[in-house]
Amino acid sequence: MADGLEFSDEVNHALKMAYQTPDIVAARAMVVTSLKLQEGLKVLDIGSGPGLLALDISQKVGDSGSVVGIDMADNMIESAKKLCADNKRVSFEQGDAMSLPFADNSFDAVVSTQVYEYVPDLDAALAEFARVLRPGGRGVIVDTDWAFPYWSAGDGDCRDSMINAWKQHCAQESVPMRLPGSIKSAGLQLQSVRALPIMNTHYNEDNFSYWLSKIIASFAIGREGLTHSESDAWIAGLDSLEQRGEYFFCINRYLYEIVN
Ligand SMILES: C[S@@+](CC[C@H](N)C(=O)[O-])C[C@H]1O[C@@H](n2cnc3c(N)ncnc32)[C@H](O)[C@@H]1O
Repeated sequence: MADGLEFSDEVNHALKMAYQTPDIVAARAMVVTSLKLQEGLKVLDIGSGPGLLALDISQKVGDSGSVVGIDMADNMIESAKKLCADNKRVSFEQGDAMSLPFADNSFDAVVSTQVYEYVPDLDAALAEFARVLRPGGRGVIVDTDWAFPYWSAGDGDCRDSMINAWKQHCAQESVPMRLPGSIKSAGLQLQSVRALPIMNTHYNEDNFSYWLSKIIASFAIGREGLTHSESDAWIAGLDSLEQRGEYFFCINRYLYEIVN
């Protein structure tokens, strides 16, 4: 994982909140649609995090299908298990995207959203994705382009340093731009790529960038020379922009549809 983002309980909470905002709920629905799921399919979610996507997928595969989520972080597995406690179609286990604990061709569909920026080797991770996906099976990958967040700055705040500090959370840079090559190297076929912009004109709990700013604010302290009070001032600046009706945020995620 990157020198950096630890999926602590605090980050876990902010992620869970971010992933329940309307933007991300809509993006998740697009992932489920892109997988073209049918009853009886066996699906793997790599880096399943809080388990929200696995839960959505389970609604589509029926009682004869199943969803397995794997994640490196024990606390993510714990909260995903809690979320899906009453759902017999879904199971979660600890595992590494770099070395999937499954036999070749084990799954009809494989999905991984917002995970490949953390792996130590993108090509090797994609080779694992390809190995466990059966011939003819479908895959979906979503990743964010952190190179170009478009985020309004408060008066004299340290927005650029905060964003530069955040870029350090990635073990892999520019994942969206590199994925077509890695998908091809893994012997998979890229069917389509779509940009999924997330645009927020308000800074409040209903917006993805609100929760993202909380994660960045704590991650950035001690990086790029940023102090606790500068990080607090950045957050206060975002609040002020909202109060003045001047807040703006936009970033692109990309969705890759793949066939084996
Ligand atoms: C930003 S979260 C995304 C969670 C989920 N896929 C989603 O989109 O809702 C990234 C997740 O990837 C997991 N992760 C990071 N590196 C991993 C690896 N090498 N193998 C498995 N999981 C990993 C983290 O523990 C975390 O739960």
